[in-house]
Amino acid sequence: IGRNIAYYPVCESTQTIASEKASEQAPHGTVIITEQQTAGRGRLERPWDSSANKGIWMSVIIRPEISPQFAAQFTLVSAVAITLAIEDLTDCSPAIKWPNDLLINGKKVTGILTELQADMDRVQAIIIGIGVNVNQDLEAFDESIQSIATSLKMESGQEVNRAELVAKILFYLEKYADMYVENGFEPIKLLWESYNCTIGKRIRANMLRETVEGVAMGITNDGVLELKLDNGEIRGIYSADIHLMNK
Ligand code: BTN
Repeated sequence: IGRNIAYYPVCESTQTIASEKASEQAPHGTVIITEQQTAGRGRLERPWDSSANKGIWMSVIIRPEISPQFAAQFTLVSAVAITLAIEDLTDCSPAIKWPNDLLINGKKVTGILTELQADMDRVQAIIIGIGVNVNQDLEAFDESIQSIATSLKMESGQEVNRAELVAKILFYLEKYADMYVENGFEPIKLLWESYNCTIGKRIRANMLRETVEGVAMGITNDGVLELKLDNGEIRGIYSADIHLMNK
C-alpha cells in the first residue's frame, strides 16, 4: 500500500478521484492524497470540512480477494490502523465509536468512509477515505461543528508531522489488511474492542427508516453491532449513525 501515490495540492474530493481511478483499474494500494478538498464528503452525504494544509485527506484503493459481504469489516480494520498510528506519533489515545469514528475526549478527530465496487461474488475494489484532523486550531472548523470536532494539535498541544502520520497509517493499514485476508477478522476484532468506546454503553442508533435505543452488547465476527433493546430483543445494526447517551 502506498507504492503508487497521486498527490493533488487541491481537489474536490480524493474519494471521487479514487472511485474513478479504481474503475480504471488502478492497482491495489493506490493512494490519492490532497492538501485541501473543496467538496470533501462524509458518511450519509454530509459535507466534510477539509481545510488547507491542516489535515490528512486521502483515499486508499485496496483490492482484497474477498467476497463483498465481508467488505464492511475493512471499515473496522481501518479504524484500528489509524488508531495505532495516532498512538505511535502523539500522546493521544483515540477511542473508536462504532463503526469507525475516532474520538478524543468525546470529540471527533477522524472519519472514515468506505465505498465498495463489487460484482455479485467478488470485491473489485474497496475505497477507504480517511480524514484526520491534524493541525487545525478551533477557528479552522466551521462554527456548526466546533463543539463536536477536534484535532490532534488541539488535544496534544503540539503540531504533528502529517507526512510521518500518513506513512504510519499506510504501514498499519497494509499490516492489518494483509492479516485480515490471511486470518480473518478475529485477531483484529480483539484490537478493535480494546479501543472501542461503544460496547456497554446506552446508545441511540439512527437508521434510514427508524431510530432505536438500547445497550450496545458487542460486535459479531462480521462487525455487526448487537444492540439490546429495552424490551429485551437483540437487534443487529449493520449501518447507522450512533449517538452515545450519557447514562
Ligand atoms: C465521516 O466521518 O463521515 C467520513 C469522513 C471521510 C472524509 C474523508 S477525507 C478524504 C476522503 N475524501 C472525501 O471526500 N472524504 C474522505
